[in-house]
Amino acid sequence: FIIRPFLDPIPSLPGLYTSIGFSLFAFIATLYLVPALGPTFIKAHLSGRDLLKDYATPIPESLGLVCASVYTLALILFIPFAFSDSLTTHSTQTPEGIFVPEFPHSRLSVYLSSLLSLLMATILGFLDDVFDIRWRHKLPIPIIASIPLLMVYFAERGNTHIVVPLPLRFLLGSLLNLGPLYYLYMSLLSTFATNSINILAGINGSEVSQALIIATSVILNDLLYLPWPIGFRLPVHLLGSKAEVEFGGVWSAGMAYGSKELVERHLFSLYFMLPLVAVCSGFMYHNWYPARAFPGDTLCYVTGMAFAVVGIQGHFSKTLLLFFLPQIFNFVLSCPQLFGLVPCPRHRVPRFDKVTNLLHPSKAIFMKPPSKLAATVLRILSFFKLVDLTLHPSGVILETTNLTILNFFLIRLGPMNEKKLVQVLICSQICGSVLAFSVRYGLAGLVYDG
Ligand code: UD1
Ligand code: MG
Repeated sequence: FIIRPFLDPIPSLPGLYTSIGFSLFAFIATLYLVPALGPTFIKAHLSGRDLLKDYATPIPESLGLVCASVYTLALILFIPFAFSDSLTTHSTQTPEGIFVPEFPHSRLSVYLSSLLSLLMATILGFLDDVFDIRWRHKLPIPIIASIPLLMVYFAERGNTHIVVPLPLRFLLGSLLNLGPLYYLYMSLLSTFATNSINILAGINGSEVSQALIIATSVILNDLLYLPWPIGFRLPVHLLGSKAEVEFGGVWSAGMAYGSKELVERHLFSLYFMLPLVAVCSGFMYHNWYPARAFPGDTLCYVTGMAFAVVGIQGHFSKTLLLFFLPQIFNFVLSCPQLFGLVPCPRHRVPRFDKVTNLLHPSKAIFMKPPSKLAATVLRILSFFKLVDLTLHPSGVILETTNLTILNFFLIRLGPMNEKKLVQVLICSQICGSVLAFSVRYGLAGLVYDG
């Protein structure tokens, strides 16, 4: 019983190597430009006070704009390289016998529509930073920004079927076509991805670290589908005859799942995620505790839209959602405050104690007794230790801790300093991704076949 490793020739993926090169450039540019442009942002009144410090020095805000500019610039300069193979190799013969280059127009429209959505997210984020747009106004904008993506998805005859889990097959069959509902789901995904990062914010490094870990998880997932030069052969004995099964190797990943198209989709996703990881890493250096620059809503919107773009165009939106577990938890927990059941102060960040330098859960105060529904919801949340309530001797709720995952960590783990809290958040995001991979590639086998 011998396992025989083998080496295939290194696959030729020139686009990927160039993308890595551009990403290095983006990393260095962000690292340099953020501190260099900080004073210009302060002069333009784009600055904020760090709410969880005892000093009031203005910190430049909205530097996500610098990240977004470097990111989109890298993506635009990369366009010719993304299609370099088509520029040089493929050609078709016309009826007149002339050879003309065969150009993958559909792939180009996927790329350009993605850029358009990213640019719209940048504008929306920056306008939000400047004008503090109201929630009910800014919620539908990412839906509109996703229309180009959805149109291209439609033009590509994108799949709108979902595979029904085994226990429900007797009722729904093995494939269910969601049709227009699938498009609704994808447009909501763009709103969710952009806003969910923005509402898990307020401590140094929180926004950018979420984006960094989600992007890294998407990259790891993409790598599973790429052709690898390394593989191994396993001997098997079948009905007395000897055979060898091959794992890994060039094109194996894409082939295993059926097509070269799958490899191309995941390459596309890598082209968008590698420079994102680069700008986020560069920015994180300056946003790390104690922050010298704030990301503003621009960074949250651009990164969120980038995830929606690769999830939709790469056809792995459900896997993508699995990487958002902490954001889903934070959003569901926030709902009573977001939808007006419980008062929602302008800032829900934890409360800072100057004397001890520790963070404590912040509170929302009821000016009038809560409605029956609000009281019931809060009592259920309190039963599961998701919130801490302050009660009047008569039992009426006077105060509740703000409904965020950051306050939840502080309730469960006790007061801690800002740096420790962001490290806890990072750990939860990494654990969420590990869980996502096990659900996607482990548990999925139990409820789905094939
Ligand atoms: C969202 C949250 C809000 C949270 C805010 C913090 C909801 C519904 N809204 O609002 O509760 O307080 O983000 O970003 O959940 N800041 C810091 N330290 C940081 C980052 C930001 O003190 O590390 C402060 C600065 O004063 C900065 C301000 O937060 O100026 C930015 O807030 P903004 O992004 O405009 O808030 P929202 O996104 O509207
Ligand atoms: Mg914000």
